[in-house]
Amino acid sequence: MANINSRYADVSENYMFRDVVRKADAFAKANPGVEIFKLGVGNTTEPLVPSVVEGLRHGVEKLASRETYTGYGDEQGDARLRKALAEWYASRGVSVGPDEIFISDGAKPDCANIASIFSDESVAAVQDPVYPVYRDSNIIAGRRIVYLDAVEANGFVPALPNERADLLYLCSPNNPTGAAMSREQLKAFVDYALANRSVVIFDAAYAEYIRDGSLPRSIYEIAGARECAIEIQSFSKSAGFTGVRLGWTVVPRTLTAEDANEGTLNRYWNRRQTTMFNGASNIAQEGGLAVLSPEGQRETRAQVDHYMENAALIRAGLANAGFTVFGGEHAPYIWLKCPRGLSSWGFFDELLEKARVVATPGAGFGKNGEGYMRVSAFGHRETIEKAVRSIVENIKP
Ligand SMILES: Cc1ncc(COP(=O)(O)O)c(C=O)c1O
Repeated sequence: MANINSRYADVSENYMFRDVVRKADAFAKANPGVEIFKLGVGNTTEPLVPSVVEGLRHGVEKLASRETYTGYGDEQGDARLRKALAEWYASRGVSVGPDEIFISDGAKPDCANIASIFSDESVAAVQDPVYPVYRDSNIIAGRRIVYLDAVEANGFVPALPNERADLLYLCSPNNPTGAAMSREQLKAFVDYALANRSVVIFDAAYAEYIRDGSLPRSIYEIAGARECAIEIQSFSKSAGFTGVRLGWTVVPRTLTAEDANEGTLNRYWNRRQTTMFNGASNIAQEGGLAVLSPEGQRETRAQVDHYMENAALIRAGLANAGFTVFGGEHAPYIWLKCPRGLSSWGFFDELLEKARVVATPGAGFGKNGEGYMRVSAFGHRETIEKAVRSIVENIKP
């Protein structure tokens, strides 16, 4: 007799993105020919940069010849890419060994799967509002969740938990609020984890969007983090790999937990990946190597700059018109406060109907997201400009 994992019923209520698409489609159908400006999803829009296209092409060409063809690679990833990433970290003053880096097909699966190397009894702390993957994967696994409020009063960076928390999920720069943690704020979580033998799971998918050199781009910039933190990273937002699929997770050999000495968690994640993952695409990994080349770094940095110029246009355009905006300074997301006390969905409808702009209702990210909208800076420049103009002309702040 097969029984279902009934916890899926506990997460199946979050239909936010489906509802966003459904409402936008219904509006488009009812208003044929009307241009709609989509700033809802956090999906990259600009083409891959030339050096990366060349890298991917090289990957394909290697597969086309008997001499250079490869099939399965190492589940942990191509040794050249792991070494290149270790050097990339080193160039930023961060010490991470190639054997501590596990290449993945993107950050999302690792965010969802990483807790499998910890006990089901672990309590998971997540920010509210939250990138839903951390929360839902732990609900499905049956773990207790503690919510850390990220609200206007604390600059959308939560205080330390005041109850037991074994796994602390942090995302900085943050999706959805766009807030970036300072060194001191991140250090407080590292110190908490060290004192409580907890583990921080640090999602740095937007690290390349940080404009202020004093803000940490890796948790390993904080003393002690190698003993208590896992970092999850991605080429998606920094190099447009949302569809190519490539990321990585760092599990330091020095990481410990209540019942794990040095090396154990690194070994467990290695075991998890070799058992349940068959390695990232060899073509994508050639693309990843190209991203890390000097030319790739230069070109992808320019692309991130482009998205950040979009963010600045949205921020300034809306702020000048009298809207209250947060984020968007070190992240491609602007956290827009709904005007006139409107709810997220109430403002969603008004933005769509009056300004023809689609944004994401903050309420879909947790209770503290109510009353906010996430506006994404991923979009073509002309779309961003038209969207801002349309909001300013058609919506009362
Ligand atoms: C915070 C955060 N982490 C991870 C991801 C997913 O990244 P990937 O495309 O590498 O799976 C996203 C995607 O939007 C994200 O916002």
